[in-house]
Amino acid sequence: MISGRKSAVIERPEAEREALRSQILELKAQMRAVIVAHNYQHPEVQDIADFVGDSLELARKSTELEAQAIVFCGVHFMAETAAILNPDKKVYLAHGTAGCPMADMIDGNELREWKARYPGAAVVCYVNTTAEVKAESDICCTSANAVKVVESVPQSEVVFVPDENLGKFVAARTKKNVTIHPYPGYCVTHARLNAEQVKLARSLHPDSPVVVHPECKPEVAALADQVLSTSQMVRYCKESNASSFLIGTEMGILHRMRKEAPGKEFFLVSNSLICPNMKKTTLDSILETMRSGRNEVIVPEDVRLRARRAVDRMLAIV
Ligand code: 13P
Ligand code: SF4
Repeated sequence: MISGRKSAVIERPEAEREALRSQILELKAQMRAVIVAHNYQHPEVQDIADFVGDSLELARKSTELEAQAIVFCGVHFMAETAAILNPDKKVYLAHGTAGCPMADMIDGNELREWKARYPGAAVVCYVNTTAEVKAESDICCTSANAVKVVESVPQSEVVFVPDENLGKFVAARTKKNVTIHPYPGYCVTHARLNAEQVKLARSLHPDSPVVVHPECKPEVAALADQVLSTSQMVRYCKESNASSFLIGTEMGILHRMRKEAPGKEFFLVSNSLICPNMKKTTLDSILETMRSGRNEVIVPEDVRLRARRAVDRMLAIV
């Protein structure tokens, strides 16, 4: 177990960092752009962003921005969701190869085959999917609203893709009489967390609530005090009376937690909780993306319109 205080920080002289920041801000004004970042991004990336949030907040926020361009610091499916929702804006991914291995575990053909096994079932896709998969789904969800989304569909059978752990978490939490058929996808980062690590962390910090992400394995979620999306975790830790917390998600979240709850202590349950793709984006890659105009996310219009239905249905749920 580590505190996670230093490991995500890119070491560079402050003057160099400041020079990069001012070039980014100048270009941002010229492009009439807004920079948004996911909670897992490097601290220096979060700090230059206009908005930092979880997947649901970032999708919603993208529709409220008065800008010509969105520079997205996260992974591909997140920028693609912003592109699905904002055909009038240019959307750039701030590092060209930042992808999500879980989103790549199912494509349109595989989903069609999975659906064919359960005729009549509603198809709920996690936002961690490609536009092609969203286009084949009835409704999208994120870790913040998955239970509500499943409860919103009229069917009592649901095909849930691609995160098996999130599907099982919904099945355990919902009050609806529903059968969920989860696809066997998973997050390679959260899969590294195991029950033994949680038990060890608890024995070292018995007064600290354990807060984990629903992408964790069911046996890990079962040991936790709270199973929450990344922004829900930040809110919970700020509002809780506890003064220290054991965190079971990607280490980037610690930056926001320490910023927003400065008097409290946060410990990562395992030092393996690093998503290499989330860590690709740096101030340099943001500047390079903005300068070159590369990494624009383009979704073919027919796919975008079908994917948008699934995302809009999710956003209509409070
Ligand atoms: P959140 O929507 O909870 O931020 O999660 C996104 C993600 O990719 C978790 O691994
Ligand atoms: Fe994908 Fe997992 Fe990284 Fe999130 S943490 S972007 S689910 S690989």
